[in-house]
Amino acid sequence: MKLTDKEKSRLKTRYGEWAIVTGASSGIGRELALQLAAAGFNLVIHSRQLEKLEEVEMQLKANADIQIKIVAADVSGPDGIDKIIQSAQRLNVGLLVVSAGYGTSGLFINSSLPAEINLLKVNCEALLALTHYYSQHFARQKRGGIILMSSMVAFQGVPYAANYAATKAYVQTFSEALAVELKPYGVDVLAAAPGPVDSGFAQRANMRMTTTLKPSQVGVPILRALGRKTTVLPGFLTKILVYSMRAVPRLGKIKIMAKVMAGFTDHQINREDERTSTI
Ligand SMILES: NC(=O)c1ccc[n+]([C@@H]2O[C@H](COP(=O)([O-])OP(=O)(O)OC[C@H]3O[C@@H](n4cnc5c(N)ncnc54)[C@H](OP(=O)(O)O)[C@@H]3O)[C@@H](O)[C@H]2O)c1
Repeated sequence: MKLTDKEKSRLKTRYGEWAIVTGASSGIGRELALQLAAAGFNLVIHSRQLEKLEEVEMQLKANADIQIKIVAADVSGPDGIDKIIQSAQRLNVGLLVVSAGYGTSGLFINSSLPAEINLLKVNCEALLALTHYYSQHFARQKRGGIILMSSMVAFQGVPYAANYAATKAYVQTFSEALAVELKPYGVDVLAAAPGPVDSGFAQRANMRMTTTLKPSQVGVPILRALGRKTTVLPGFLTKILVYSMRAVPRLGKIKIMAKVMAGFTDHQINREDERTSTI
């Protein structure tokens, strides 16, 4: 999927000339960086792994004549966000994309508390800090765009991914409210809420997702929605999954998601059930 020339020009005019993309080494963040490079944005690309970012940089430069800055930083640590902000200090930044994030899965009672707190730090605290800085910056310059990665799991509780889904519910409601608050300042905020996407996500979350979208099927719909909507359900699969549950009461949705997530994680849930049944 590619952006039209008209769409590239709209994005560049409204949100250029630099964009920051966190989580750009893989999956959805990498795809958004590729599409923004094709639209002529200069890019600050971020993740923890320098080598992976250098590979992405080579790919971006092979396809577009743009400037690129690399920031390797763990946003769960105390200096991660500062490093990103410092590296972009003198740049004319008009767009922030927060795609750095991950998931955990399994029975909550068997989870590690430090691991679940780390998830909160990356998916919520770091996103909050970066959004706080750039929403003030964009409001001062009276223009800007902010894309935050929510998920279809944000719309109800999800057994076997309870904390992950809760972090996405945070991102979703935070984005919806900010979109209204920042509109009068000329700043557009978008929550992107995809269904399952084939990326590095499933492996890190220890999930097995059967039917998935490709990152290339969600990147363009997300960018097209910026400035036009406050939430986007990118890709046909996402729309089907979310709309098919629209009329289901919230408790029913939670039960459906329990079945879906049990399927994504059954290898470990079975093991864990055996273990907990002996407690
Ligand atoms: N894939 C899905 O099914 C799906 C569905 C809905 C929403 N989402 C959301 O979309 C976002 C992107 O996920 P994805 O599917 O593109 O997964 P991905 O391929 O695993 O990409 C995640 C990115 O985040 C970076 N990252 C992870 N932890 C980090 C940390 N502590 N500090 C800095 N960077 C970190 C990773 O880079 P390094 O490993 O190099 O640090 C990578 O670039 C996430 O917020 C995810 O929750 C994903």
